[in-house]
Amino acid sequence: MPALVLLGAQWGDEGKGKATDLLGGSVDYVVRYQGGNNAGHTVVVGDQKYALHLLPSGILSPGCTPVIGNGVVVDPSVLLSELSGLNERGVDTSKLLISGNAHIITPYNVTVDKVTERFLGKRKIGTTGRGIGPTYADKINRVGIRVQDLYDESILHQKVEAALDVKNQVLTKLYNRRAIAADQVVEELLGYAEQIRPYVADTVLVLNQALDEDKVVLFEGGQGTLLDIDHGTYPFVTSSNPTAGGACTGAGVGPTRIGRVIGILKAYTTRVGAGPFPTELFDEDGEALRRIGGERGVTTGRDRRCGWFDAVIARYATRVNGLTDFFLTKLDVLTGWEQIPVCVAYEIDGRRVEELPYSQTDFHHAKPVYETLPGWSEDITQAKSFSDLPKNAQNYVKALEEMSGAPISAIGVGPGRDETIEINSFL
Ligand code: GDP
Ligand code: IMO
Ligand code: MG
Repeated sequence: MPALVLLGAQWGDEGKGKATDLLGGSVDYVVRYQGGNNAGHTVVVGDQKYALHLLPSGILSPGCTPVIGNGVVVDPSVLLSELSGLNERGVDTSKLLISGNAHIITPYNVTVDKVTERFLGKRKIGTTGRGIGPTYADKINRVGIRVQDLYDESILHQKVEAALDVKNQVLTKLYNRRAIAADQVVEELLGYAEQIRPYVADTVLVLNQALDEDKVVLFEGGQGTLLDIDHGTYPFVTSSNPTAGGACTGAGVGPTRIGRVIGILKAYTTRVGAGPFPTELFDEDGEALRRIGGERGVTTGRDRRCGWFDAVIARYATRVNGLTDFFLTKLDVLTGWEQIPVCVAYEIDGRRVEELPYSQTDFHHAKPVYETLPGWSEDITQAKSFSDLPKNAQNYVKALEEMSGAPISAIGVGPGRDETIEINSFL
């Protein structure tokens, strides 16, 4: 069976963790292909709530092999503490596989992330401070440290020294910070090496063989389409490719291996960190979405910025990812509004624009053009099929589907695994 990709269609936090977990019981492999512990995925199983950052959400499904692909950046201390946290709660993590080619987030990458943001002041990106950008920068600059380097001390030493050569100049001379000693970094990294070794594998080979054997492979994106380094609202983005193409490079599978691409789409919009957000609300509606939706970051605890649904963004996500389906989440959060505005186009300097403008300046000037849809007041959290939804909720979903350009194949009506209406099966 061709592989599936599941990714965020907005600015992250769409409910990818829940959606992946839901499918996890029926798939053989769940693969993270980009990002790192900047992600925060909440998964609710029965009365248990799990917050995952680096590990694929499939780790909670016993039959499933979780994989950290080559495109991911791995903070070894976070990896080990996340694993032990799950083990303490009785979750078996022994099947985990980690690519030897994945890059390591070193302590100096975390330092550089934090000092750079501080230096930027008002112009900061609002990163998660987890060292993500600097680690990918090292990768592209060819001074990165990979998981496999942990198993050759002399190479590790040389590479850490080379990476610190320039960084220490910048840290001491530009940022007025203390230099970082290579020996200390190497010692810390070597301290993790043996604990990680059992998981390290040639994940590209494993995944391609699994696909040859008709196993079901699900790629789970972190972040979201509008945070993509190439296709997002640059420079207010993350430093990797959450979009569908990232699954190929970040896991080592060809595009012909992928059959379905599922975009996770919140029934309204949220964003964390800086950057443009046309439908952002600064009134009591925004406050209500935040409160009812529990819109607080899983990783940094920051309040999420909230706004109405933006169909221009959804259409864009359909296009750049080649989406075959949407999974609409958090429809239950909208219960109680008499009227629900939906952004159908933008007004930019007096012109009506139907598609996301490629120009950053235009996007910063975009004002939402709203259509208002009638709301519903009935509790929908118990709905099991589309016909269980009140008429106005059905119409809201149909309207979003029409505007967004791909079928809505599932609807989330609550955080739990079973609080989902399945319309078209994903498998
Ligand atoms: P992710 O980063 O895309 O995995 O999303 P997060 O976990 O950061 O944020 C989504 C939040 O919404 C989590 O707290 C989920 O438990 C919750 N959630 C997911 N789907 C639904 C839904 O359909 N309804 C409600 N009320 N909550 C949901
Ligand atoms: P999940 O997987 C929402 C945002 C940060 C910041 C920008 C760059 O839970 O959807 P980074 O630390 O990646 O260099 O920060 O990206 N960001 C996220 N926003 N959800 C996420 O992950 C995010 N990961 C990064 O807030 O604006
Ligand atoms: Mg999240």
